[in-house]
Amino acid sequence: MHLEIAERPGYRRRSVAALLIALLLPAGAAAGPATGLDHPFPPLRGEAPTVERVALGRALFFDPILSRDRDLSCAHCHQPGHGLADGLPRARGRGGRALRRNTPGLYNVGYKARLFWDGRAPDLESQVLGPLLSPDEMAADPVQVVERLRAIPAYRDGFARAFPEAGDDAVSLDSLARALAAFERILVSQDSRYDRYAAGDRSALSESERRGLTLLRSLNTRCFECHPPPTFDVPHATGIGVPGDDDGAGGVEGIAERRGFFQVPSLRNVARTAPYMHDGSLKTLDEVVRFYARGGGRAHGVDPARIDDQIRPFSLRDSEVADLVAFLGSLTDESASPSVPDSVPSGLPVLERRPATRTSESQP
Ligand code: HEC
Ligand code: HEC
Repeated sequence: MHLEIAERPGYRRRSVAALLIALLLPAGAAAGPATGLDHPFPPLRGEAPTVERVALGRALFFDPILSRDRDLSCAHCHQPGHGLADGLPRARGRGGRALRRNTPGLYNVGYKARLFWDGRAPDLESQVLGPLLSPDEMAADPVQVVERLRAIPAYRDGFARAFPEAGDDAVSLDSLARALAAFERILVSQDSRYDRYAAGDRSALSESERRGLTLLRSLNTRCFECHPPPTFDVPHATGIGVPGDDDGAGGVEGIAERRGFFQVPSLRNVARTAPYMHDGSLKTLDEVVRFYARGGGRAHGVDPARIDDQIRPFSLRDSEVADLVAFLGSLTDESASPSVPDSVPSGLPVLERRPATRTSESQP
């Protein structure tokens, strides 16, 4: 299926229907000699997206009408120009206030079994309510947001087309979440240069990138054990020892031993989403690789009991660090990047800078 998407770089302007058909087709057999890496993606999780829901979800994603103050859309934090993250160490919420965690990119979220850094949401539909209702983020009132959408004819029609079975109740918080989730499921990234290499095209990676791939798969670095293809993540939380007082998964699960554990993030499009880690504390991929080489948080005095066994110090030459970083860059494929709509049904400005606080506060 990745080839289908690859062969249409201009797909953004084409119909979503074509993309959906491509997504729903089984992955084709890889061409070229076996690399042992051509693992197909699993099926998307949850409800299959429909053309109508994706179109509605896209409008909602870019529309600040969802936020109480009408100034913050999903896209303000998940920006197409930043790998669907925001380029900040930690997200800026309502009125520009600093939140405690880094904004993750959204590519391939449709494959994730657990969402958020601490894994607290089991699916995209329930995840949406997090930022939407949080008083520090969009601060929406569930009744008010539905009333606002119902008052806009383009949304009334959009919801009716996307959820015909719901009749007069088509505009609801539940449909809102389902439409946004449908839109997020088509944000796939699976045709990077790495993927072409995995499918047998050896020329798709440079020599340095190939050396980086070998390093990533080695027992020395053990990166692949937590970041395996095709998604380059695993669906669980573990500790690598990023210092700090965020309890992460341990807080959600109520298990003290798992304090400081976080979901393993995907490495796809990672070159686009600096800075890194749940708290945005590492600025570059070079810093990330050197952090691992020093044994993760061990070098920062984090209790080794909170650090996964697979995280051990290893030594790399500078050129090998560069190879690893180069390889990570070959995992970039933003062909599904959503085009920013010229306007949204509410008529509010799309992706314009939020007023005052955000621009006047200096970014850490
Ligand atoms: C103020 C910035 C901000 C806004 C607005 C925002 N997000 Fe996020 N998003 C974040 C941050 C920060 C996280 C990580 C929070 C955490 O893990 O506790 C996140 C996490 C997510 C995740 C989980 C990704 C993963 O890999 O686990 C999804 C999906 C998501 N957001 C979608 C949305 C949608 C849809 C909207 C609009 C309804 C939205 N976000 C609005 C900042 C934002
Ligand atoms: C034991 C499992 C494990 C191993 C092994 C591992 N990682 Fe990670 N990786 C994680 C976890 C968990 C996080 C998130 C930690 C946090 O935010 O506190 C992470 C985060 C990252 C990030 C930041 C991604 C982002 O979006 O912020 C990068 C890049 C990364 N790892 C690359 C690597 C590389 C390169 C290696 C090998 C040198 C490696 N990882 C080995 C579990 C692992």
